[in-house]
Amino acid sequence: MTLVQPRRVAAVIGGRQHDLYAAAGPAGIAPDEARVITSTNPAHLGEVVAEVVLDGAEAIVAAAAAARAAQREWADVPPPVRGEVIGAFGRLVEDNAEALARLVTREVGKPLAEARGEVQEIVDTCTLFRAEGRRPQGQTVPSEMPDRELFTYREPLGVVMVITAGNFPVAVPSWYLVPALLTGNAVVWKPAEYAAACAAALVDLLTAAGVPAGVANLVLADGAATSVGLERALDAGLVDKVGFTGSTPVGRFVGALCGRHLQTPCLELGGKNPMVLAPDADLDAAANAALFAGFGTAGQRCTSLGTVIAHESVHDAFRRRLTAALERAVIGDPMRDVLYGPLLDARFAAGFEEHLASIRDHHEPFGSTALGRIGPASPRRGFAGDPEAGLYYHPVVVDGVRPEDDLFTEETFGPIVGLTSYRNLEEAVELANRPGYGLSSSIFTGDPVTVRRFRRGIRAGMVSVNTSTSGAEAHLPFGGNGRSGNGARQSGQWVLDQMTRWQSLTWELSGRLQKAQMDVSVPAADLSFRLPMPAGPQQ
Ligand code: UN1
Repeated sequence: MTLVQPRRVAAVIGGRQHDLYAAAGPAGIAPDEARVITSTNPAHLGEVVAEVVLDGAEAIVAAAAAARAAQREWADVPPPVRGEVIGAFGRLVEDNAEALARLVTREVGKPLAEARGEVQEIVDTCTLFRAEGRRPQGQTVPSEMPDRELFTYREPLGVVMVITAGNFPVAVPSWYLVPALLTGNAVVWKPAEYAAACAAALVDLLTAAGVPAGVANLVLADGAATSVGLERALDAGLVDKVGFTGSTPVGRFVGALCGRHLQTPCLELGGKNPMVLAPDADLDAAANAALFAGFGTAGQRCTSLGTVIAHESVHDAFRRRLTAALERAVIGDPMRDVLYGPLLDARFAAGFEEHLASIRDHHEPFGSTALGRIGPASPRRGFAGDPEAGLYYHPVVVDGVRPEDDLFTEETFGPIVGLTSYRNLEEAVELANRPGYGLSSSIFTGDPVTVRRFRRGIRAGMVSVNTSTSGAEAHLPFGGNGRSGNGARQSGQWVLDQMTRWQSLTWELSGRLQKAQMDVSVPAADLSFRLPMPAGPQQ
């Protein structure tokens, strides 16, 4: 039972490697399979946050084997005791909150206030699942025959492989890791390479909390090695469940791979999240919510606002308010009080530029003084800090998006929001569903009938009324449908169904063979019986 160590991340602090782990991999891995990359601060591109030794596919298989070897013993630990380990993890995260939040800001450029919120989301998750270890986990079920007991049990799955993106480098992984561990699974976690230092810190905290060796394994690998490694680990019967948060195309690939092994992964994919403004919408509140939903985290949440679908009677007034809000917004150094900082890393910046290139002549962009990267040739008023130091982009709202536009149908993962208008609620719902995603959605109205019609018509897994599409609380079911996922839900009690499987127990105590359905005796009923109609004047 060994944790797949040494972890392959050397944090670089003040230009010096802080905590260099040896570059030797798990037994059996050829050193030449390993590759060294750097994780840099997207707000200060010259600043290396970590040097990361990436493993090859075999490391994934080795980690899954280590998890398999450790899992049974972990499953034998009583659930309330596993809950205490989760509780200790939550306390350690809380006591290290500022250091962890600052690391998140430094490695992925998330504004510090948001990074603190992200860390709090882990604490909340641990608070919930610490207690889950002491809650009833099965049922006693009545039998149709005498002297027979029926029960249900939740059983751990075995080894859960978790693959996550870096936009929520510690909270979203915890949504998988915490319930998986609480329910007695062992895990292999493959985080985003550009968030490796955050991942290493989180695993340090898990280890400090008392998670035994081999039960939580961190592997750093690129996408190609991960897909080969996952396929081999599944073929070898070493992985029982995959939890994946990332793009829709990769989610399809993971889903197909798992399907070959008759497994249903937990897929949390992209979103093109609509915000509908009814004629009676509070437009100040809506503009404020659109600002946060569209541009918070630089638009890089899967729950970020995609398109505002405004009733034609409020379109212009809303546009004026959003313009004013965007002009006032401060963008820049994520250590300061800003609406948003840089994009996550160079790959995401390149992807966002491709989406900017889909702005067409029939579109009316607004929201900033220019389009694209912020810099000396293209400055942004009130920018906080040095724009040239990082991957900073102008915010943009694109008015006049049409249902056939890429900007209307595709997730853009950056500080861009579409705007269009509608005439009646049926049309609004149809537009909101059109891109085929189904993660989050929002409507602004004071009318309960409109809310009800919208909620029933929208195919999103999450609906908000009079608030942002993003920023779900940690104990509500989180997840989507269609291009956003396979209907799996994370968070809260609902994730237990992802991390466990039900087992039923039939316990015969009569000493005889009692056959279900056949040996059941029910007293005969006279179904022709009717009560006499009371006499008296007929109504
Ligand atoms: C994500 O972007 O993958 O609801 C998750 C929210 C956050 C989580 C986002 N609590 O916006």
